[in-house]
Amino acid sequence: MKKFLVIGNPIEHSLSPELHNYWIKENKLEATYKKQLLKKEDLEDVIKDLRNEKIQGINVTVPFKKAVLPFLDQQTPKAILTQSVNTIFKEGDSVVGDNTDIGGFELSLKYINYETKNKKIFILGAGGVVPSIILALKTSGAKKIYLSNRTREKAEELKKTYKDVEIINWGETVDSDLVINATSLGLKNSDDINLNFKKFTKESLFYDVIYNPRETNFLKKAKKNGHKIENGKMMFVYQAKIAFEIWHGIKPTIDKKVLELLKND
Ligand code: ATR
Repeated sequence: MKKFLVIGNPIEHSLSPELHNYWIKENKLEATYKKQLLKKEDLEDVIKDLRNEKIQGINVTVPFKKAVLPFLDQQTPKAILTQSVNTIFKEGDSVVGDNTDIGGFELSLKYINYETKNKKIFILGAGGVVPSIILALKTSGAKKIYLSNRTREKAEELKKTYKDVEIINWGETVDSDLVINATSLGLKNSDDINLNFKKFTKESLFYDVIYNPRETNFLKKAKKNGHKIENGKMMFVYQAKIAFEIWHGIKPTIDKKVLELLKND
């Protein structure tokens, strides 16, 4: 029986087991996928379990995507570029860290036929997922990327790697085609985002990386102002799909049934 885990802290909210166990069953695989709450001190041991083949694969979520890096033997180019690992596997004797968030974000936009080539993009937040989003956008030929974060230093830190990103003061707006909320603000739905939605053209798409709640205040306000909106559900589904392919060598299906597993919809 192969064993797979998603590790994080907190981890209760994670819907990865629902998705992966559905695909495991659908493909009649001898495997289990569980969530495990961890402390930072436990990371080395859990990766040792993968090295010793007690575990065959690990998904990593907040706040450990960077913290796992020292315990890996190898990182894929995507992991190196973002310094963010969400999928771990063993290849030969080597423990390898990969990043499927980049692909997850790209495919989520493809799913709604949104073309980022030559678009101006405004990203709010500078946390763990932002390097993956920037990389995906740069690869797809975005014209300009603006970045705004409450703590400006964190945005400036990212600019050291992604030099052509332009920093915007927190609370200010800039004309853009796609506005991405990559902050964790929406998790607490009482939180209000400080943004003048009226300043954006009606055509701009508002995207929140959060999918639970389905409509964050950011998306609710954008909708009220007549904008198109998209939550992070398909990004979540696609990052899981890519991880499943890496571990099992099988392309899992994404159909209505799969989407219904994510109960908040
Ligand atoms: P981490 O920073 O550890 O990677 P994250 O959940 O990936 O954590 O990122 C949290 C993001 O949400 C950050 O950009 C954070 O802004 P700060 O860098 O200023 O902390 C942002 N965020 C969280 N709560 C916020 C709030 N109340 N107002 C504005 N931004 C907030």
